[in-house]
Amino acid sequence: MHEKELIAKLNWFYSLELNQVDLYTAQAHAMEDIYLAKTLARIAAIEQQHVDNMAAEIKRRGAEPTRLGDVISPLLGKTAGFLSGLAGPKAILKLDINLEEKAMKDYKDLIVRVGNDGHLFDVLWDNLIDEDIHTAWFANKLRELE
Ligand SMILES: [Fe+2]
Ligand SMILES: [Fe+2]
Repeated sequence: MHEKELIAKLNWFYSLELNQVDLYTAQAHAMEDIYLAKTLARIAAIEQQHVDNMAAEIKRRGAEPTRLGDVISPLLGKTAGFLSGLAGPKAILKLDINLEEKAMKDYKDLIVRVGNDGHLFDVLWDNLIDEDIHTAWFANKLRELE
């Protein structure tokens, strides 16, 4: 994978993770269920770690992390208002599961492409596993509400 293409890809993940921090923080504020609100806030903090580790990988390659704007709405075909919690807990959980699954698929694709090149490979795996754990928690909570 060419360095330029890799940096573009890392910037896409950087933007996705930034969007997820904003999204889950907004959802946390919109939720009445305190356990759901606290978990979304905690997950937003973990997404911030992903923002930071993607930024570090971009900088390690001599580039500046660049926010590409809203990458989530086009990914899910939903508006910002719907995404931020106006839709109610069940719809939000379904949407978040969808989003986490898309992120996981993209992390898996990049892991295969970069191969075991050391540090980046490990960082991508760390983020992938976190997204998997988020998905599992969301799915479990959704079952509880249904
Ligand atoms: Fe993430
Ligand atoms: Fe996540």
